[in-house]
Amino acid sequence: MKDPKGRTSIGFEKHIFICENSRVSGHPRGCCQEKEGSKIKMMFKDEIVKMNLVGKVRANGSACLDFCEQGPTIVIYPEGVWYRINNPEKDVKDIIKEHIIEDNIVKRCLINL
Ligand code: FES
Repeated sequence: MKDPKGRTSIGFEKHIFICENSRVSGHPRGCCQEKEGSKIKMMFKDEIVKMNLVGKVRANGSACLDFCEQGPTIVIYPEGVWYRINNPEKDVKDIIKEHIIEDNIVKRCLINL
C-alpha cells in the first residue's frame, strides 16, 4: 500500500505525548486538562510546524499518563523522558529547541517524585 504522505518508514524520530485527561472538579488527583493540557498540546503542534519538524516529530494528546499530581505531564519517546510544563510559553519552546532539536535534557522541566 502506498503511503498517502509519501513516507517510506514507519514512526517518528521523536514522539511527544501530552496528557489531556479530564476529571471531575475536585478529584483528589486533579487532571492535566484543568492545567491547560489541550492548549499545551496545540502549542507543541504549532512549534513543530514553526521549526519545520513535521514528519520527523509528532505531538499527540494522550489520556492519563498517571503522574497527574505532577502535571501538566508530557513524555517524549523513544528516550522516555518525562516533563511537567510549568510555564507553557517558555517550556514548550525550550523543549522543542533543546530536547527535540539539540538532544539535551531540559532539566528544570523534569518530573520529580
Ligand atoms: S491526568 Fe494527566 S497524568 Fe493523569
